[in-house]
Amino acid sequence: MSKSTKWNKRYSSPEYVYGTEPNKFLKQELSKLATGRLLLPGEGEGRNAVWAAINKWEVTAVDISQMGKEKAMKLFAAHDVNINYRVGNILDLNFDKQFDAIGLIYLHLPKELKQTFAIKIAQLLAPKGTLIMETFHPEQILRNSGGPKNPDYFVTPNELKTYFSMLNIVSIETQEVYLNEGAHHKGKAMVIRMVATKE
Ligand SMILES: C[S@@+](CC[C@H](N)C(=O)[O-])C[C@H]1O[C@@H](n2cnc3c(N)ncnc32)[C@H](O)[C@@H]1O
Repeated sequence: MSKSTKWNKRYSSPEYVYGTEPNKFLKQELSKLATGRLLLPGEGEGRNAVWAAINKWEVTAVDISQMGKEKAMKLFAAHDVNINYRVGNILDLNFDKQFDAIGLIYLHLPKELKQTFAIKIAQLLAPKGTLIMETFHPEQILRNSGGPKNPDYFVTPNELKTYFSMLNIVSIETQEVYLNEGAHHKGKAMVIRMVATKE
């Protein structure tokens, strides 16, 4: 099954499988910044984009899933916000601008793509821009509160520091948190939370 087929299937139910509230860490960190252009790769059903747009960010969302976009557009319409949402693989898309902030919230990629992806994200970040990332720690594979079942899709904090060594890592923490993000992220989970900036 292709990646887009898998995600279209997951998003085919009427409920928002990761909920409609923004990820807490993204909300907390974006709230500390001056608003500007925000890129959300792997944005899915739009929960982060809608919160950011309501809070005056100029949002570009990207996802490989057309079904994700359709659900996101319904959420945007319900909140009367305008968001540029592109369907495609983030690794293949070109952008005519850089972003003041990028939010990577549970975008899981296989090991062989992680360095290429990190280079692309760093290029898309504007000078003085901020990267905010939350992802599952490899220990999460033992839990049923969300996340991939293939170990290849996880990353350790040290690997993240290496992949993003072109940025200044402001903070990187492994935390056990209680996730309450729809039916697919629910319960105690081991996550990595990272903030990095560009010179
Ligand atoms: C676990 S979901 C998280 C969705 C959203 N970030 C959230 O927190 O609600 C991962 C998302 O990444 C998307 N995705 C995976 N690989 C992608 C890629 N290469 N390019 C764009 N989107 C991708 C999937 O379609 C899916 O919507």
